[in-house]
Amino acid sequence: MATVVSVHSFRGGTGKSNTTANLAVVYAQEGRRVGVIDTDIQSPGIHVLFGLVGDEVTASLNDFLWHGRAIKDVAQDVTAGVGVSVSGRIHLIPSSMKPGEIARILREGYDAQRLTEGIRQLIEEINLDVLLIDTHPGLNEETLLSLVLSDALLIVMRPDRQDYEGTGITARVAQELQVPKIRIVVNKTPDSLDRAAVAARVEEAYGCPVAAVLPHSDDLMRLASEGIFVARFPEHELTGLYRQIAASVA
Ligand SMILES: Nc1ncnc2c1ncn2[C@@H]1O[C@H](COP(=O)(O)OP(=O)(O)O)[C@@H](O)[C@H]1O
Ligand SMILES: [Mg+2]
Repeated sequence: MATVVSVHSFRGGTGKSNTTANLAVVYAQEGRRVGVIDTDIQSPGIHVLFGLVGDEVTASLNDFLWHGRAIKDVAQDVTAGVGVSVSGRIHLIPSSMKPGEIARILREGYDAQRLTEGIRQLIEEINLDVLLIDTHPGLNEETLLSLVLSDALLIVMRPDRQDYEGTGITARVAQELQVPKIRIVVNKTPDSLDRAAVAARVEEAYGCPVAAVLPHSDDLMRLASEGIFVARFPEHELTGLYRQIAASVA
């Protein structure tokens, strides 16, 4: 059975897509067969980290949800694009970058049940070991659905007051839905903060373990989504922390 991991945050820009892409590479380096689904239909982006530009997204989650395409046919093998040789494989289901497609889903919605079924089929048909779900921020229908299916949830937050409050809401919902493993990732932590103290405070506030406290990284900023950090900087401290997160959930 595959392990399903959702990566979520209450607010945007916390680092969900970077966390998801880096975990995918870590697992593939361990020889695992990894699936990544971009359910951030409103503001997709993880395809960029795997080296695809919007025009190269020729098959998407939208095609599955709206146009009756088989889930297996909208998954793209992006293993070659990660910039490092891995013994596993990474299959990406991107979300469409076509404005009309995005507008249509926002206007008309989609059959949530179809997404759930698609996720199950995908795991079976391409024989995945791990499925990572990169989500849209905030609590919405896709998020709740993905939580119900998940073996683990990573909630990504910045050490910021607005994030603290939102993370509490997300953690409570996940606890109510009985997600088996709920872990928090504190990201973009300034060097001036004591990371151990941040972890202790967060664990106390939510009653959930902290998988890692990641620093704000100029190296990651400079990479500017032109690649996946763990592949580019294998010896970096941040790479070690992404590995720590990976080990904590799957
Ligand atoms: N630890 C970090 N240090 C510095 N910049 C980061 C860090 N994590 C993510 N970023 C940057 O923050 C922005 C948002 O990251 P992204 O992963 O797309 O977040 P989300 O998917 O939550 O919107 C990107 O420009 C990314 O490079
Ligand atoms: Mg994102």
